[in-house]
Amino acid sequence: VHKVIFDTDPGVDDAMALYFALAHSEIDVVGITCTFGNVTVAQATANALYLTRLAGREIPVAEGGALPLMKAAGKPPGFIHGDDGLGNLTSRLQHSAKAESVSAAEFIVNMARQYPGEITLVAVGPLVNLALALKLEPQLPSLIKQVVLMAGTVIEPGNVSPVAEANVWNDPHAADLVFTAGWKLAMVGLDVTHRVVMSASYFAGLAQHHQQHIAMTTLSHAVNFYSDFYQQARPDLGHACFCHDILAFVYLVAPELFETMDGRVRVQLDGMGNGQTMMDRHGGGLVYAQSGWGSEQPEARVCLKVNAPACLQLIE
Ligand code: BDR
Ligand code: CA
Repeated sequence: VHKVIFDTDPGVDDAMALYFALAHSEIDVVGITCTFGNVTVAQATANALYLTRLAGREIPVAEGGALPLMKAAGKPPGFIHGDDGLGNLTSRLQHSAKAESVSAAEFIVNMARQYPGEITLVAVGPLVNLALALKLEPQLPSLIKQVVLMAGTVIEPGNVSPVAEANVWNDPHAADLVFTAGWKLAMVGLDVTHRVVMSASYFAGLAQHHQQHIAMTTLSHAVNFYSDFYQQARPDLGHACFCHDILAFVYLVAPELFETMDGRVRVQLDGMGNGQTMMDRHGGGLVYAQSGWGSEQPEARVCLKVNAPACLQLIE
């Protein structure tokens, strides 16, 4: 069983990912750390508390970074996830749960020290919390079992610019720290998340099957809002959406559904290429060493292809 801290900015696909994780017998979510991104960090924290309590789960939630490490803050994309991150819900279950008294970065460090070598970080938002945790505890990479990111893209075009994926673009400095920290790291980016299309009819079938679950009304509402956005942005998909963040968990439990390549990943920190994840697919060596891509930098395992039907089946 994977002991997971879920770092997230819920977010519709984040909510889907959370419920996938809570439902999966091989995943034990021991904490949720929240970041700005799809919504403000305060809203992300409120959403994580709401979604867990709605599902009847008392999982600790810690609030994290409100701003990128160095970049100026942007405006949350209300047109994609709704102003509340969950498709503008009209009502919410009332509960009295509160966030932890420690920050997200402190929570990560405390858990890593308490369970050395056991914790997996699944991070599906901008990476400020992981970056702050690394600053707080430089030994963190040796205390953490592995890191799985929904972040970046290598060959597939970006979703905020021609070369950048949103989570990396939102905090490129944090992402670069995370990619170079030296821990066991897998990147699940747009190269694979753009291959797994969740049609509205697929989701309706899933919702029908689980209609007795109290969280389904919230999730269906959110997914509908999100799919309406995609119908405008990507008419070629029909009424459907990408379910990016779930795939980080799918990779965790079923890595055999992905084709991967190992290589160094660095992040472009400014200019028009801001937030681009640059991967060395050549393997360094003499030629690249002269440009600073020496082979001593840590490698990431990058997902490049995916068995989409098998993913959808697993999610169902
Ligand atoms: C990522 O950006 C967010 O909008 C999604 O939740 C996902 O984590 C996709 O680029
Ligand atoms: Ca996300």
